[in-house]
Amino acid sequence: MSAIIKFRPGFSILPFDAPLGAEVIGLDVGAPLDDDFAALHQAHLDHHVLVFRDQHISPRQQVRFSRRFGPLQIHVLRQFQLASDAEVLIISNIREQGRPIGLGDAGHYWHSDLSYKAVPSLGSMLHAQQLPRDGGDTLFANQHTAWERLPDDLRAAVRETRAEHSYLAKYAELQKRSPWRPNLTQAQIDEVAPAIHPVVRTHPETGRLALFVSEHFTTRILDVSAQRSEQVLQALFDHSTRDALVYRHRWQPGDLVFWVNRSVTHLAGGCPPDQRRMLYRTTIEGDAPF
Ligand code: SIN
Repeated sequence: MSAIIKFRPGFSILPFDAPLGAEVIGLDVGAPLDDDFAALHQAHLDHHVLVFRDQHISPRQQVRFSRRFGPLQIHVLRQFQLASDAEVLIISNIREQGRPIGLGDAGHYWHSDLSYKAVPSLGSMLHAQQLPRDGGDTLFANQHTAWERLPDDLRAAVRETRAEHSYLAKYAELQKRSPWRPNLTQAQIDEVAPAIHPVVRTHPETGRLALFVSEHFTTRILDVSAQRSEQVLQALFDHSTRDALVYRHRWQPGDLVFWVNRSVTHLAGGCPPDQRRMLYRTTIEGDAPF
């Protein structure tokens, strides 16, 4: 069991007994955090997933808290924005009058948010609104440890390589599973033109290396044959999502979870379709991976 880190009376951080993640105890993210922000900033560098329990905040407060870490990014599927706050993406399986109110299958494959953009996301926040009775967990895999534990031959094979990330890679497949997924307009397709990133990225603040590929968005490794690319990517996907690297978040009402897309990939575990699930997501812009 990891030791609790106390910053001041009433504010502490409890690292999970897991390959990543910590609970932040005693902070109201809706309040100004000036004196505590530096500690929180360090915690996201150290633990990669931060869980804040009992956060009864408005979408506007979530936007304000998210902006403390950087400018926010708007998802290409504008139809799932919250009407009052464009920076909030609705993640939900709920339908109203037959129409989906949110992106119901977000996170169906392991991914790092917006890795298909030239400037992907630093991190994302999800705030629980409605939770299913069964399932609905979110899984996070530590990509620093994935890199550090990669077998030597694979490390040598990928250290200097680059890969393509594409939003469209699995879009048709997802549309088959989820026919409510809209056809994209040409403007939307143009907005998500594929991006090229290093397979192993350097965290700009800590200098730590991390694997930066995912089964959802990474389509190919550049400058190798299609067969070799497929073989190496499959080996990386299998390695980087092993149980030994994963923290499974079991949601509770009021939870706000902040994860660092530079350091982790994540997956939505799924829940019975007849049980309502809704969370609000904000996505913070990062930097071009190097
Ligand atoms: C996401 O990938 O942003 C959503 C994860 C989830 O719904 O658990």
